[in-house]
Amino acid sequence: MVPLLILIFSCLIGVSQGQLRVSFYANSCPNAETIVRRVVSEAAASDENTAPVLLRLHFHDCFVQGCDGSILINNGLESDERLAFGHQGVRGFDIIDRAKTQLEAVCPGTVSCADIVALAARDAVVLTNGPLYEVPTGRRDGVVSNISLADNMPDITDSIDILKAKFSEKGLSEKDLVLLSAAHTIGTTACFFMTDRLYNFNAGGGSDTSINPEFLPELKATCPQNGDANARLPIDRGSGQTFDNQILQNIRSGFAVLQSDASLYEDAATKNVVDSYFELFNPFLGPSFEADFASAMVKMGETGVLTGSEGQIRRVCSSFN
Ligand code: HEM
Ligand SMILES: *[C@@H]1O[C@H](CO)[C@@H](O)[C@H](O)[C@H]1NC(C)=O
Repeated sequence: MVPLLILIFSCLIGVSQGQLRVSFYANSCPNAETIVRRVVSEAAASDENTAPVLLRLHFHDCFVQGCDGSILINNGLESDERLAFGHQGVRGFDIIDRAKTQLEAVCPGTVSCADIVALAARDAVVLTNGPLYEVPTGRRDGVVSNISLADNMPDITDSIDILKAKFSEKGLSEKDLVLLSAAHTIGTTACFFMTDRLYNFNAGGGSDTSINPEFLPELKATCPQNGDANARLPIDRGSGQTFDNQILQNIRSGFAVLQSDASLYEDAATKNVVDSYFELFNPFLGPSFEADFASAMVKMGETGVLTGSEGQIRRVCSSFN
């Protein structure tokens, strides 16, 4: 009786996770994960932006129509989702394409582009010294790419309430919002996203007073008013290439670079989540940032996925079959 109940229970969990499972390709394409990992590490060896770019790509894929590879479509149309304002600066498509080409050579029509994106994001985390976690796979690729579906991407100027609402719409909690924002532990931002925060905060002509006064002149020097909007700076000051909890420490002390990250400390619930990783006895008794981040990534990766016979397995990630 008890084993049966457990079986039923785990089937229910399976369904609620959209029928993704770890090692989905174990029989159909046993080297799938190895191939993705190799392509990602090769790309990372020649371009230090690779890991952050791929981590961000997964987020932007999942938040529009679910993790279905819709952001990868390049039909050369103005209506292509990838051209959406909310996807500004998203890159890494060439790396996904390269992995797909290699996968098609060994197991044609088998591994979805959406899964490649999810696996590449995991490999990116590992490459920057983050936690190694298993990625449930079995996603199928979507057949719609529509720029207006990306209108609702989270934006740096969104209030904390709006950010919470946008994550909640995807089934992601306040805790997930904090943990997933902590992906900003690696990577860079264009000064473009800093201009209002530094020179016209809330359209008031000044700067965001939540920026530590020690940090403000440094930010202004890196991103001068009317300077190069494409100049880039690390989002996690002092630790932009390593996956660690420094980003949370920076958020606590007014050294957040992005406005949306700073706002995580202006709300009681999200502030508590940030602080929970710094409690006195945290190393022994507290929650683990790395383990919690990995769980949040797995959860984000289940957003609105297509499985079974839904969608398709694209032959080329940038176009529908
Ligand atoms: C909470 C809402 C979020 C907002 C408003 C936001 C906004 C941004 C912005 C403005 C940038 C700079 C883009 C550029 O200049 O190229 C950025 C970069 C980045 N974002 Fe987010 N983000 C959010 C959540 C996330 C999540 C959930 C993830 C992944 C789990 C993520 C991963 C990244 C990474 C890794 C970068 C660095 C990209 C690079 O170096 O090219 N972000 N984000
Ligand atoms: C995109 O979606 C919008 C809103 O759902 C719809 O009005 C529009 O017709 C769609 N455009 C294309 C090209 O499918």
